[in-house]
Amino acid sequence: MDTLTETSAWKNLQSLSEEFKQENFRLVNLFSEKNRFKSFSLTHEDLLLDFSKNFITSESLKALIELAKECQLPAAIKAMFAGAKVNCSEDRAALHTALRIPEKENPHFEIVNCLKNMDDIVSAINLGTWKGYNGQPIRDVVNIGIGGSDLGPSMVCEALIDFSVSDLNLHFVSNVDPAHLNGILKNLVPATTLFIIASKSFTTIETQLNAETAKAWLLSGAESTDLIKNHFIAVTSNIDAAKDFGVEETNVLPIWEWVGGRFSLWSAIGLPIALLVGMPQFRELLAGAHSMDEHFQFTDLNENLPVVMALMSIWYGGFFDCHSSAIVPYSQHLKQFPSYSQQLYMESLGKRVDIYGKEIQTNSAEVLWGTVGTSGQHSYFQLLHQGTEFIPVDFIAFINTIDKSLNALERHQYLLANCFSQSLALMSGKPALDQASRNIPGNKPSNTLLISQLNPHNLGCLIALYEHKTYVQSVIWNINAFDQWGVELGKELSKEILNALQLEKNLKEIDQSTAALIDSVRESTT
Ligand code: F6P
Repeated sequence: MDTLTETSAWKNLQSLSEEFKQENFRLVNLFSEKNRFKSFSLTHEDLLLDFSKNFITSESLKALIELAKECQLPAAIKAMFAGAKVNCSEDRAALHTALRIPEKENPHFEIVNCLKNMDDIVSAINLGTWKGYNGQPIRDVVNIGIGGSDLGPSMVCEALIDFSVSDLNLHFVSNVDPAHLNGILKNLVPATTLFIIASKSFTTIETQLNAETAKAWLLSGAESTDLIKNHFIAVTSNIDAAKDFGVEETNVLPIWEWVGGRFSLWSAIGLPIALLVGMPQFRELLAGAHSMDEHFQFTDLNENLPVVMALMSIWYGGFFDCHSSAIVPYSQHLKQFPSYSQQLYMESLGKRVDIYGKEIQTNSAEVLWGTVGTSGQHSYFQLLHQGTEFIPVDFIAFINTIDKSLNALERHQYLLANCFSQSLALMSGKPALDQASRNIPGNKPSNTLLISQLNPHNLGCLIALYEHKTYVQSVIWNINAFDQWGVELGKELSKEILNALQLEKNLKEIDQSTAALIDSVRESTT
């Protein structure tokens, strides 16, 4: 097979992209085509994707679909769902989609079993039959994990706070900076606190150090370590390490090697979500994701939401030298969605070589970032409108709010009005030819995802949409989306440097800068 940039589809796209780079090109003029919105929007259940405010015509969209076909995307989609070892550098499948198959049809007995165990744990904790060491029910749950063992559950818990069925207080600790765990523990009581150690590997140093500190906090003043059993749950694939730490075997929930960390909120890593919203609504989250799985597998490429969104990113990276894009949810509940998406996207696609080790001949993933609207409008949106960078935006908004507080409807409509006015302003701009500083050039593309309302089902659907978008891009760039060797290097080096700091052991081959930084710490640490 030709490499990506040698395919006929790529060459065709190269020439089609020229039209959008002409000085007189106006994105807004594409709307002279009467049915443009209809032609460039897609729906799945309660989600509407409006991608009409993009540099796209029927011809360029068709050419992008041709590219996907030339890159064997349909076969790659089938392969992932069938459990092929798409994570080739680690010889593993990526079967997070199996976690969302409805239990009655789910052929993976270990998944069904795990959901049953989660059910029991959630009921016991929420009904108060799970007692702390002095017989009181649990009031606070602290999830200790990092990366995928933190970002997914934390983001979803914040998003679904209005769907809470529990009186528990949930907390998330990821950072090894003592300020993070201490800031939480100072308000908690050991006898009514439960820790979830969420770590697929059970070796991640930040999580290990925080877990050890939590254990010491629990046991301080205790006469026996026996009380750990009521206060620690682990979610891990390293059951022996969890047992060695002191977690009762019955309190260890599994995660399997075929679930990548950043795709793991659907597994027992999602236990905090289940505690907050209850198992029926956790299952709704899974059902929403499953419906997107079905859409992704069985819908034609040109009507397939994740495929089309991915192709837009490939298009901008490949032909418009795009180095950055933003996700801006107009929803305070989705405050953590951009940082969750960063791990999903940048840990998966931040690669420079293809699966054969050959340099990719085009830009791969751009930097992804964002914050909620409207707040972002009063900080970085200035750069989006008038800066020199080309930054496509994904706007996400909900039509309805379930908030019944004072003026909620009015404020929600103001939120929506701002969302729509920003995509319009980015596209249209406002010429002020006599005054350059006031000239707003427009021609900035965006997608808008408009969703009927925020609920567990729709959130599951939305997250799975971005997961599959990520996979599609990996297939077209021929990248392994499921490893992260770059991150591993940092982990290794931090161990060596910690030794140098703590044991005053000199590192053999070390640059002057790092050596001087280490020395500065050694000299000043009292
Ligand atoms: O950041 C690297 C990483 O391996 C992520 O992929 C993962 O989500 C995170 O560390 C945490 O890993 P673990 O769950 O094994 O502690």
